Amino acid sequence: MAIEESLATLRELKERAALGGGQNRVDAQHARGKLTARERIDTLLDPASFEELDALAVHLDNGEGGERLYGDAVVTGWGRIDGRSVGVFAQDFTVFGGSLGEVVGDKIAKAMDLATKTGIPMIGLNDSGGARIQEGVGSLAGYGEIFRRNVRASGVIPQLSVILGPCAGGAVYSPALTDFIFMVEGTSQMFLTGPDVIASVTGEQTTFEELGGANSHASKSGVSHFAVEGEQETLEEVKRLLSFLPSNNMDDAPTVDTGDPTDRRMEDVLSILPAESQSPYDVRDVIERLVDNGDFMEVHELFAQNMVVGFARIGGRSVGVVANQPLYLAGVLDIDSSRKAARFVRFCDAFNIPIVTLVDVPGFLPGVSQEYGGIISHGAKLVYAYAEATVPKVTIILRKAFGGAYDAMGSKHLGADVNYAWAGAAVAVMAGSQAVNIINRRELQAADDEDAERQRLIADYEEELEHPYIAAANGYIDDVIDPRDTRIKVAKALEMLRTKSESMPPKKHGSIPL
Ligand code: HXC
Repeated sequence: MAIEESLATLRELKERAALGGGQNRVDAQHARGKLTARERIDTLLDPASFEELDALAVHLDNGEGGERLYGDAVVTGWGRIDGRSVGVFAQDFTVFGGSLGEVVGDKIAKAMDLATKTGIPMIGLNDSGGARIQEGVGSLAGYGEIFRRNVRASGVIPQLSVILGPCAGGAVYSPALTDFIFMVEGTSQMFLTGPDVIASVTGEQTTFEELGGANSHASKSGVSHFAVEGEQETLEEVKRLLSFLPSNNMDDAPTVDTGDPTDRRMEDVLSILPAESQSPYDVRDVIERLVDNGDFMEVHELFAQNMVVGFARIGGRSVGVVANQPLYLAGVLDIDSSRKAARFVRFCDAFNIPIVTLVDVPGFLPGVSQEYGGIISHGAKLVYAYAEATVPKVTIILRKAFGGAYDAMGSKHLGADVNYAWAGAAVAVMAGSQAVNIINRRELQAADDEDAERQRLIADYEEELEHPYIAAANGYIDDVIDPRDTRIKVAKALEMLRTKSESMPPKKHGSIPL
């Protein structure tokens, strides 16, 4: 075939591939408020940076006759975001509902292999009915190949999943193996089995949205890390998250000139703390003052809200922030908040992002449901994650650190590098109000005026044990600081820790209590 003739054929085939499942289905996609796969890629990537792979791949003959579609149900390739290379795939719902058959599986696997080899983030734009039913076990094999690649790439390159439509079956397991899941409110759902199957098996009545919508997964299951309104806005958030992350585990996250001086005092931080030590306040108000320009990207904002985690910068460099949130459940550690923080700490550790921990924790949540739910194992995940993390770890006790939660929240004993406590903070096994009921039971029973005796004992306890100076005397915290100096102290510690080098004893991998 002459070159000109071949180029004409190529143009025609690419045009056919670009149409996906045809104009009617593209219109239907738009009518649902959704972009097409190619429009999504264009929205996500820097202009004219997309290089497509396998546009000429043709799906297997599924015996249904009809036109064989070029490109099959996914668009794959690479491009740039803010000038940095990324790998990308976008499932095309207009082709067999974005379902995954052998060819789709092979295309995604090829793009993932390239991203992993080259050390660039992999972004999956998911909009798929799951395994292509007509292709049987070939579809299941395709998923298995992707899952294996997700796992091999885990901790090597950031893997981000964006859910942009109804995703079922295998289409949710690959995202679940990635680092972060974004969902679009109203138009995206994730479920293993849909409402009809659930109704026939368990009799439960539910809807797609109630079962697997963005808010359900962002607040109830915690499967989704971000729930955002609108596809374009969601893709903007993907770019924002990437700006905090390195391209791979050997690379540094981008340094940004934020213009926020590291010698800035947090002058008004004292006004955040209520006079009453048990009263709530929003720890995000402290984070906002601590980090560069108050720019904090919260992860899992709606899930386990008694813990706040997310990315920010200090001195222009990325940090992961982990903080108890006194605004919800007094910032107590429970099953979900332990899981949430443990996972975040492990991600930061894998990608060399220093961890700044803000502690204000009354302890682990007591209760039968927590014990039956396995708080012992889930709390252990948090302990494990901190103890395993070799990245720089800086911990500040803001107001209180009681009991096992003191240990779990980035204590010196778990390997934190620099630990401070605010003047006025309390570090103890428990609060005096609880402690006296245990250690002074007999005195209280014998007292003429039990309440007055309790107050006296609590005051003694607070004087003797409920302050940071025993911890400081033992070197468990490195200094007691003026809260207004927190940013200055943390920035200096992070600067010093930039050359930190530490490794775990040689092993295949640990056995985290999953
Ligand atoms: C082949 C599929 C498909 C699938 C959808 N389609 N899912 N084709 N295999 N899995 C096709 C439809 O036939 C239809 O084709 C087009 O995609 C759009 O689907 P609709 O149903 O019209 O769209 P909608 O009403 O929006 O519903 C979307 C949906 C629904 C909720 C995703 O299609 C659905 O429930 N699909 C099946 C989900 C599922 O059970 N998947 C298998 C999971 S098992 P036409 O030609 O009409 O446009 C699995 C195992 C992997 O994934 C396990 C790994 C661990």
